[in-house]
Amino acid sequence: MTGSRLRLGVNIDHVATIRNARGGVHPDPVKAARLAVAAGADGITAHLREDRRHISDNDIARLVTEIDRPLNLEMAATDEMLAIALRHRPHAACIVPERREERTTEGGLDVVGGLARLTPMVTALREAGIRVSLFIEPDPRQLEAAARLGAPVVELHTGRYSHLAGSAAVVELERLTQAARHGAALGLEVHAGHGLRTDNVGPVAAIPELAELNIGHFLIGEAVFVGLDRAIGDMRAAMDAGRLQ
Ligand code: PXP
Repeated sequence: MTGSRLRLGVNIDHVATIRNARGGVHPDPVKAARLAVAAGADGITAHLREDRRHISDNDIARLVTEIDRPLNLEMAATDEMLAIALRHRPHAACIVPERREERTTEGGLDVVGGLARLTPMVTALREAGIRVSLFIEPDPRQLEAAARLGAPVVELHTGRYSHLAGSAAVVELERLTQAARHGAALGLEVHAGHGLRTDNVGPVAAIPELAELNIGHFLIGEAVFVGLDRAIGDMRAAMDAGRLQ
């Protein structure tokens, strides 16, 4: 699928963050998901965190039944989250590292060190027909461990790239490029995400082995100024322009 159209998964977690700031039902992340689909999102991504700081269990139940695009459930490698995934059977599950005190997902999953914990989890999800992805740093050892584990997909963490500028960003971009190539050679479908914005997405979108980007915080923030429809349209245009480079 190298060089094919890049899918955009829209992460709607932070609509729920705003809702939860007042404890009511507005704004509704499921309504945002519906608008995102209408604006061209190829899928919806939501992270059910252990502390339920944004997305709730009910949001996941509603996203599965009310949205007619693939749902990518981001989840920690815990028994609780595995049971929830097996109950709702989203299209995809992306296993992410999670620490209570972090502001967002910091760093990738340690697949090398977590093989014993991850193996039965990946097997159970796959047997349920859920496409499993592992959120990892662009590190060859992690890619090789993901392939050994039988995960069909990896998502490369672009958080470090997103925080850098100038030559440091170029170095990190090269790590992402090499990792995407290595992942594809190992037979993995390769995705990327975290911290992407319209002004930094182009060089990532240009990596031909990438099949999907998952983007949330910037889009929801931008929607305050220009609306979700335009924010997603602008992101799609920036991705398409990058892909053509
Ligand atoms: N991919 C994964 C695995 C994530 O955990 C997140 C954040 O929830 C994202 C993508 C999206 O990151 P951002 O909200 O910074 O665009």
